[in-house]
Amino acid sequence: MENTLYNNEVAFEIEPKVVDETRQGETLTLEKKNGLRSNGKKFYIESYGCQMNFADSEVVASILANAGFDSTSEFLEADLILINTCSIRDNAEQRVRYRLQHLGAVKKKKRGAVIGVLGCMAERLKEKFLEEEKLVDIVAGPDAYRALPSLIEEAETGQKSVNVLLSREETYAEISPVRLNSNGVSAFISIMRGCDNMCAFCVVPFTRGRERSRDAESIVNEARELYKNGYREVTLLGQNVDSYRFSKDEKLVGKKLVDAKYDESVINFARLMEMVAQIATDLRVRFSTSHPKDMTDDVLHTMAKYHNICKYIHLPVQSGNSRILGMMNRTYNREWYQQRIAAIKTIVPEAAISTDIIAGFCSETEEEHQDTLSLMEEVKYSMAYMFAYSERPGTVAAKKFADDIPEETKKRRLQEIVDLHRKHSWELNLADVGKTFEVLVEGVSLRNEAELYGRNSQNKVIVFQKKNLAPGMYASVKVTDCTSGTLRGEVIE
Ligand code: SAH
Ligand code: SF4
Ligand code: F3S
Repeated sequence: MENTLYNNEVAFEIEPKVVDETRQGETLTLEKKNGLRSNGKKFYIESYGCQMNFADSEVVASILANAGFDSTSEFLEADLILINTCSIRDNAEQRVRYRLQHLGAVKKKKRGAVIGVLGCMAERLKEKFLEEEKLVDIVAGPDAYRALPSLIEEAETGQKSVNVLLSREETYAEISPVRLNSNGVSAFISIMRGCDNMCAFCVVPFTRGRERSRDAESIVNEARELYKNGYREVTLLGQNVDSYRFSKDEKLVGKKLVDAKYDESVINFARLMEMVAQIATDLRVRFSTSHPKDMTDDVLHTMAKYHNICKYIHLPVQSGNSRILGMMNRTYNREWYQQRIAAIKTIVPEAAISTDIIAGFCSETEEEHQDTLSLMEEVKYSMAYMFAYSERPGTVAAKKFADDIPEETKKRRLQEIVDLHRKHSWELNLADVGKTFEVLVEGVSLRNEAELYGRNSQNKVIVFQKKNLAPGMYASVKVTDCTSGTLRGEVIE
């Protein structure tokens, strides 16, 4: 399992992520039956892509449970198979198509079984999906999940059904997600949807629509509810959390963030984070993703002020070269990014920083690639998701620029980035040996039942002896050993 912030990872020997940050095809099942009347049908859901997609699958599970469906982890037993898809790179889409062929076997076993495609690929391809993949009966975009019960009914009559309408308002605010395959300790909370940034390489603004922030009160209530149910960590999710802003006063909603500072009724990200942090001192708060152009010192000061806001920032740089950043339409340059890193190091000195990097964007020269490596040397990322540029249909880059870096060159540059990152994460892990961290226990090691794993505030996974600890508890762990992916430690009594 993978992904940026990209929590819930299998916790052992996580190698630095090489080519793909998206998580792959996890099967999710309902944690427990919720007492609703069953309609006798079972659904199976598999999710790909970023954490937001995984959070969406939990919203979908909630909508289906309310409609009477039970869940199953065996797709051959399902009456309804859903696959929540990602379009971010070509290989993410290929993986889904391959998987669909496999899942299609259900139709031979169960007459009347229905297959639905959700998420970003559904939104990108729309009706075309039905033509290209004959096995598919339902295509539902990210803002159409409330319509799923009726789309399913339609499909059960043998008709193909499609809803790919994007919304300016939908945030599924009041839908209480059903936690799927949860460790009972950490959970995601979507705080916003969509993205207005239009980075030249990125398909997300097209697949997720306009940016909108969810009602702050519903976010805090969801976090409080999780805490009551024993959860001890929440990750606030958005494509660009720093542009979160919510106001009950509709007139203020369209205004820019700068104005929000002066208007008490507008809740910005720093304030939201604080509201969640104040629920309980032993509820950890994480967030993702921060955008270098929008991450304010305000956010950093709030992080520094609260012990339970984790000292970890995912700040995707994409490239270390200002010309490439300009072409990417990231709206910051190398110097601005360096200045943001300096602000983190001053205001939250113990913070770990991670990033996303794209190798071989259109027209990137060897020198410009070197700029990415030199920036990596300066920052020393604790974690990085590194990709070769993949042209996405319909994006600004696909329309304006030639995808002119040969695959071989992209791969070689990516490998150089990966190698350098591996060296840095090894160095950083070595520097942690001997230090003691507060670790939130997340689960039992898959490799050794006598061991547990958890994370420190900096999001590093630490494996240690079980003793009398259990998931959901905090432990003081002294690091004794490491690999480039994982720390190993001893519990301090
Ligand atoms: N909202 C986040 C990124 C979401 S997509 C942000 O702005 O940082 C996750 C990562 O996928 C991006 O940061 C980028 O590094 C990578 N990515 C997006 N589109 C890509 C493409 N066309 N080719 C290769 N990598 C891409
Ligand atoms: Fe894509 Fe840029 Fe939005 Fe991130 S900020 S989702 S990279 S358009
Ligand atoms: Fe993929 Fe869509 Fe997330 S394209 S990365 S699932 S927003």
